[in-house]
Amino acid sequence: MNVLVVGSGGREHALCWKLNDSARVDRILAAPGNGGTAREARNVAVKDDDIEGLIALAKAEQVGLVVVGPEAPLVLGLADALAEAGIPCFGPSAFAAQLEGSKAFAKNVMRAANVPTADFQVFDDPEAARDYIRRQGAPLVVKADGLAAGKGVVVAKTVDEALAAIDDMMVARSFGAAGARVVVEQALSGEEASFLAFCDGENYALLPSAQDHKAVGEGDTGPNTGGMGAYSPAPVLPEEKYAETAELCIRPILRHLAAAGHPFRGVLYAGLMFTKDGPRVLEYNVRFGDPECQPLLMRLDSDLVEIMFACAEGRLTPDMVRVRPETAICVVIAAPGYPGSYPKGMEIFGLDAIETGADKLAGVKVFQAGTAVKDGRTVTSGGRVLGVTALGTTLSEAKARAYEAVGRVRFDGCYFRRDIGDKGIARGTK
Ligand code: AMP
Ligand code: GLY
Repeated sequence: MNVLVVGSGGREHALCWKLNDSARVDRILAAPGNGGTAREARNVAVKDDDIEGLIALAKAEQVGLVVVGPEAPLVLGLADALAEAGIPCFGPSAFAAQLEGSKAFAKNVMRAANVPTADFQVFDDPEAARDYIRRQGAPLVVKADGLAAGKGVVVAKTVDEALAAIDDMMVARSFGAAGARVVVEQALSGEEASFLAFCDGENYALLPSAQDHKAVGEGDTGPNTGGMGAYSPAPVLPEEKYAETAELCIRPILRHLAAAGHPFRGVLYAGLMFTKDGPRVLEYNVRFGDPECQPLLMRLDSDLVEIMFACAEGRLTPDMVRVRPETAICVVIAAPGYPGSYPKGMEIFGLDAIETGADKLAGVKVFQAGTAVKDGRTVTSGGRVLGVTALGTTLSEAKARAYEAVGRVRFDGCYFRRDIGDKGIARGTK
């Protein structure tokens, strides 16, 4: 069978790598892909938001399964268009993808489905939002309703900061139409974790917990990024809590959407915060997290194609998802300047020796994100460039391995956080 992977990040390299393990896969195509997917698949220059181009590609290449990495094509209706063309797709419909595409939609579904989340109100009018903010007082969180590449959330410590966020989003429209509507919600505090489940519309099969590191700087300081590293499992959400947590934040959403006539098929990602009053859902994503996908797929011990087909065809069972007992950790190496502007085209050195050289490192895989191949050399082409991922019997061992590999890669100005995994280690996990 031919499989088409849509997207171009580290997540998509990891997806192509894992899909290649399946005996059912003949060829993998990546659209548009990156320097890493080029090693696992054939890259085709069709952008991930070109729905017609993707459908034409899937038909021309007799693709038997389309795996959608990022949210944008799902929100634009790629899964619906594929269903119409009779091509199986791993990823939800445009209706269900509103869970990520509209924060107001997600909050209203959470309220209707009794999912624990921060109190909130939705505003289309800036003056009404300002009134509410002045009445509530700080701290508050202001969120642009639509997709804003992870940047549309302001955690405001003062009323003035919250008012400034309203001006920025609703009046100046710094996120375009995404800020025409905002959610203003209660600020919570606690440690965060990512909890992902494969879903077939009715049933779910859980992946182990993971934890992202969104801030650019060590100790969670500085501006937010797409994610500077992740590891799994995350001790803040231990295995004995998986079942009850899923009944709190996954099951009610599946029930609600199925009852609305829009069953959720794909990966449902709950962004959780563990507050002193218990877990709260901060957000849903309708796809794998990046970089959470990289450590999660390093641990996955079953055939990903089988799981994805079971999701697409409504016959998923929890035992289909088998996971290795080791811990996996992914450290992102970024370009200088990221998450602001950054140069591109720098040659990356040391990549191949890590996995195939005489002193290769066991249990390490380098997933490429912002890379391209130019004249046979791998060069940078994005902000998050590499996700160096390692397995270990303990979190400390996985961390030591990953950083040893990180130390062997270089390009001009490259940087990374040195504290990925430390919150887990601080909880007493070895
Ligand atoms: P979101 O895209 O909704 O997950 O928000 C991005 C980040 O903003 C989260 O990972 C949290 O760190 C923070 N955040 C979101 N909602 C809240 C909240 N209600 N209280 C405190 N922090 C929040
Ligand atoms: N790593 C967070 C996300 O993918 O949204």
